[in-house]
Amino acid sequence: MPRAPRRCGRSPLEEEVLEAVRPTPAQVRLLSGFYRMLKRRLEGCLESAGLRGAVEAEGSFAKGTLTSDKWELDVFVLVEGADRGWIARRGEALLLGCLEGLPAEARYAEHPYVTVKLMGMEADVVVAPKVSRPGEGGTGVERTPFHTRWVRGELESNPCLADDARLFKAFLKGIGAYGAETRVGGFSGLLAEVLTIYHGGFRGVIEAAARWRPGAYVDPRGVGDEATLRRRYPDSALLVPDPVDPSRNAAASVTRRRLAELVLAANAYLRRPCKLYFHPHAQAASPPARADPSRVVALVLEGDYAGEARDALWGRLSRLASWLAGGLEGEGFGAARWEVWTDEASTAIIAFELEHTSLPPLRLTRGPPAWSPERALGFIARRAQQGLPYTVTREGLLLGLRPRRHTLAHRALQALAARPDAPLPRGTRAARAEPPGSEASRLAAGLLDSSTPRWPRCLLDG
Ligand code: CTP
Ligand code: CA
Repeated sequence: MPRAPRRCGRSPLEEEVLEAVRPTPAQVRLLSGFYRMLKRRLEGCLESAGLRGAVEAEGSFAKGTLTSDKWELDVFVLVEGADRGWIARRGEALLLGCLEGLPAEARYAEHPYVTVKLMGMEADVVVAPKVSRPGEGGTGVERTPFHTRWVRGELESNPCLADDARLFKAFLKGIGAYGAETRVGGFSGLLAEVLTIYHGGFRGVIEAAARWRPGAYVDPRGVGDEATLRRRYPDSALLVPDPVDPSRNAAASVTRRRLAELVLAANAYLRRPCKLYFHPHAQAASPPARADPSRVVALVLEGDYAGEARDALWGRLSRLASWLAGGLEGEGFGAARWEVWTDEASTAIIAFELEHTSLPPLRLTRGPPAWSPERALGFIARRAQQGLPYTVTREGLLLGLRPRRHTLAHRALQALAARPDAPLPRGTRAARAEPPGSEASRLAAGLLDSSTPRWPRCLLDG
């Protein structure tokens, strides 16, 4: 019997993953109904407010790249003649007025928007200037309708690409690299689509990603100015000129860490494809290496974090975590991995899995060379005073033992967090280091487990 043809060059495994990742017709029908209701409502409201404009669906629902885990719409109200100032003054009130009677809640990002939740579905309703070119209204969000149009046009010209973009999004979710929020520092939906389009599909983008290095440059339309973009985004791990606004880096959110994780996962997938690379299958399996609570210490922060912008808070926590990991390493408690979490309101936790959680009271220390006699004699005198040994190496350098500042990792962590130069997030009232085996360390171990990728299991035999 002839085998079923490979569709769009995808493997049977990839087809199987797609079955789970593609939204069901019922899901699309329900979201469409929700969208039509909102559109009618918003159009009527624009008219009665005497405003000219349009209501459009954007995002993955409009582009045909929606995945089955998303019961979400992005709805844009585009107002003619509005600019940044107008949106800031009138935008939120307009939306809330138009959506009165629905469970609508105002949210703030760079830009005011309103979330409507209905029967498990969620719509972000955004108000933006209606412009003929991105940039005219002076807002970032006005680019979105142009993104939608560009992506849609490209996907229409190759019927394989929409599913391939879904597959790539599912891959990024499975390895924890999906999302442009600072919390993730990963790939936006748009970026996933742009890369899939440019590389001609899922296989193409994975093969390309396997060879990326920090600073890789990918120009989807061949219209970018590489030198200018590099100057403007000197620290970006990946540079992708935005297809509708090439002076902007559509990959600015991607951190070096997430890029590295994608490079690793892409190489591993090419050697050993398996389902654990993909969301949502990835969620079911346990991680290949569980965090051992007896090796885990936690820093629990309490404070008033509700006022802080979410992205800024996650950014500070991640910087603090690296700083603390460096400090712990310097004290001899090497951190093998760490992760941060916050409820974005009053609590944050930083989890560390360590090489050692307790150490002997003395540690080795390098002294000056004998040819700096002033310092060398000071070193020797201190050893003599403390009754501690030292030696002169074959190279003529001094080496000796000195007392450790901390023998317990959580004490070292507490001391680091109490330093005046500790980069604690604004609004922090208390920082408490918790020892291995404590309730907090068990929670912290769970946090490490939940953020550990599942795919390394695929590298094992059998
Ligand atoms: N957007 C926005 N403000 C919001 C929500 C969305 O400006 N409050 C814009 C984003 O900038 C993006 C588009 O709407 O250009 C869709 O964003 P998002 O939902 O993050 O991406 P999708 O492509 O829809 O991907 P997903 O399937 O993950 O939702
Ligand atoms: Ca969306």
